[in-house]
Amino acid sequence: MPDFTPVLKEDEIKRHISRIAKTISFDYQGRELVLVGVLKGAFLFLADLVRELALEHVKIDFLQASSYGADTRSSENVVLKKDIDVDIRGKDVIVVEDIVDTGLTLTFLIEHLKTFGPNSVKVCAMIDKKERRKAAIQVDYACATVEKGFLVGYGLDYAEDYRNLPAIYHLKL
Ligand code: IMP
Ligand code: MG
Repeated sequence: MPDFTPVLKEDEIKRHISRIAKTISFDYQGRELVLVGVLKGAFLFLADLVRELALEHVKIDFLQASSYGADTRSSENVVLKKDIDVDIRGKDVIVVEDIVDTGLTLTFLIEHLKTFGPNSVKVCAMIDKKERRKAAIQVDYACATVEKGFLVGYGLDYAEDYRNLPAIYHLKL
């Protein structure tokens, strides 16, 4: 039986999302925002976040990047598995990620999105995990920062399990 230690409870996640949503709503007032969720991990986070945004024009799309193997290591070779189809030229984009670890996935995805000519690209992540950062990624909006460890729940998986947990846990394997 794996060992789960709570990191963020359901009501804490909810409070963080409300806080971030207020900031984003303020920052993007009167602009055309496109939220680009990174599949699959960001599906719950994006769904909860978008419902709290007080903005008139919000579009939603998804990207998927592949990571090799079903283990706890991040891949250094990022490959695009699913592209966006909303036209982001001249628009303001926020990439919505579950967790930023090395930052290599986001670096790749941001470079890719920039080829479409958006007005701006910012980053919103549920968890900003600092210890293994290899790329200079700025997380503009984050629920929480952790130093290290492998987290599951609320979209985050271990070998595709535990995404359905309503809270976030540290998983000791
Ligand atoms: P990065 O390229 O190292 O930043 O990796 C980011 C991706 O690795 C995330 O989008 C997750 O899919 C996965 N990942 C990194 N850390 C964790 C974790 O603690 N739990 C679950 N997935 C993780
Ligand atoms: Mg991910």
